Amino acid sequence: MANSELKQRKHGTDTPLDSDVQPEHKRPRTVRPGASGRAEHLAYWKIVGRIVLTLVGLNFCLSYLITESFLWGHESKWTNYRNYIPRTQQVYTLSELAKYNGADPDLPLLLAVKGDVYDVTDGWGFYGPGSTYHIFAGRDSSRAFGTSCLSREDHLTHDTRGLSERELAGIEGWHRFFENHQRYVKVGTLKLPPIDPKSPIPPPCDDAKPKP
Ligand code: HEM
Repeated sequence: MANSELKQRKHGTDTPLDSDVQPEHKRPRTVRPGASGRAEHLAYWKIVGRIVLTLVGLNFCLSYLITESFLWGHESKWTNYRNYIPRTQQVYTLSELAKYNGADPDLPLLLAVKGDVYDVTDGWGFYGPGSTYHIFAGRDSSRAFGTSCLSREDHLTHDTRGLSERELAGIEGWHRFFENHQRYVKVGTLKLPPIDPKSPIPPPCDDAKPKP
């Protein structure tokens, strides 16, 4: 026995000697208990995964063939890819927002409700110059959304003093409309100037139109 081997043996019998250790390729292969079970389990879930993916794919194709939409015609904010693109929210002043009223066709069309600014460029037919709801473009018309007053300039304001519960609920409803609209996107908020409590409250509107 060589000297170095003797030294190793003296230090304990459990320690394998360098000469005892077989090279990797000569060691017998051991099958760990349960390994084959796990492999079967994995194969099973792979098959299940493929079946699910195939069914989902078929569902999209069938939906597109029948309704020309991948989700059976369902439309909501969450089915619009644009809502998944992270976008920096800007803080606008009233005069900045006014620039986005459609006068410049190269700029997006924006409007605000309750201080939240929405890009409604896709609704150019509603809000663009010359269209019925152009009055809402480039401003916060929360009051008019609550009072249904489209004819008075002093209702095209964020001043909601003196409104009834019903009118305030109307504003909430429109806010939800823009917030959840499939094609409109929130682009920022408005830095609203405080309302002077001494200023007169806009009088009710004679020709307030009922919301359809
Ligand atoms: C006589 C009452 C009214 C009638 C008959 C009427 C009718 C309509 C119609 C037919 C549309 C088009 C809907 C579509 O194609 O999806 C529309 C859109 C709209 N209406 Fe009215 N409306 C009335 C009153 C009002 C009032 C009082 C407000 C607000 C205070 C209002 C705000 C809007 C807005 C914001 C849109 C555009 C919706 C969009 O962006 O998709 N309407 N209205």
